[in-house]
Amino acid sequence: MTCDYKKGFADQTKEITVSSLEVEGVIPDWLSGTLVRNGPARFRLEGKTLNHWFDGLAMLHKFDIANGHVSYANRFLDTPALRAAKDGKMKYGEFATDPCRSLFKRITQVFTGSTSGANANVSIGKIAKEFVAQTETPLPVAFEVDTLKTMGIVSYSDGLKGNLTTAHPHQDQGDQFNYLLSFGRKSTYNVYRLSDGSKKRQLIGSYSTDRPSYMHSFGLSQQYLILMEFPLVVNPISMLVRGKPFIANYTWKPERGTRFSLVDRQTGEGRYAHTDEAWFGFHHVNAFDNNDHSKIDLDIIVYPDADVVEYFYLNSLLNKRNQEAYPKNELRRFTINVSAGTVVPEGWLTIQPNCRA
Ligand SMILES: [Fe+2]
Repeated sequence: MTCDYKKGFADQTKEITVSSLEVEGVIPDWLSGTLVRNGPARFRLEGKTLNHWFDGLAMLHKFDIANGHVSYANRFLDTPALRAAKDGKMKYGEFATDPCRSLFKRITQVFTGSTSGANANVSIGKIAKEFVAQTETPLPVAFEVDTLKTMGIVSYSDGLKGNLTTAHPHQDQGDQFNYLLSFGRKSTYNVYRLSDGSKKRQLIGSYSTDRPSYMHSFGLSQQYLILMEFPLVVNPISMLVRGKPFIANYTWKPERGTRFSLVDRQTGEGRYAHTDEAWFGFHHVNAFDNNDHSKIDLDIIVYPDADVVEYFYLNSLLNKRNQEAYPKNELRRFTINVSAGTVVPEGWLTIQPNCRA
């Protein structure tokens, strides 16, 4: 059994429209609507190849479904990163690729985000009435669904500042929840709520840390926003002086174990739980409280270490023959005892890539 996934990592350079895609099977007549997806598409720039799957220039893909037919269109997100690439320049740092820049420029980029290329290549969301492309720098990029035309970076109407966020905010009853990490000698996690139709983020609570963790998503239960702080951590000060690409500054420190930080959605109060076991993950699946909110079940796909980040470097990825090299991972349930600050992990299900023979 092999996974022929390499087409998914091929360089895309063309913007196309297809009026009717070939359909395998039958699409029910009642199914109609538009599906928009986002993802990294272009990895080779003039004179420079990006290092990692997560670095690729963002492309929007649109599937219009009606009367059993599907049409398709794609378009690059028009960002400073794309415009620099068109000029033959590698100007902005990405997840695992960094242009050669002076210390001053690195400081400006890391601590202000103002010179980010806004390469929002991860997910699709909605802020106020606008659809946005999102990534882990807090610069959502608005676009029109009908044309996929880029409208520009969305400005929030609040004073919240930060360098890093997740591209996977959670929605609950009209509100969006996310966190914003502000780097510093003491870094701060700011947890916020964004109400439906608003561009004003409301701070729920904050807590600080000397070694922020790389987290791609988080959990949301009825009462808590839960940050599972994996021991893939960074010293933000050394990030400035070393001049390495963003993720290469993070170090796997399994001896730290894994911390679960719970921020109460109503009061902003912080609670913490810890396990000596080291885990890493990208995507949370579910989180829910028991009846008196004394325990939380947190479901997440986890890895025993952070080697999966290395797995997605394009150099090695495109040379792999099959899915067997994919790092071991499983869906686990972590039951958090809120008052005791303890965590019981429960093995559940091993995930294998779904490949055709
Ligand atoms: Fe993701």
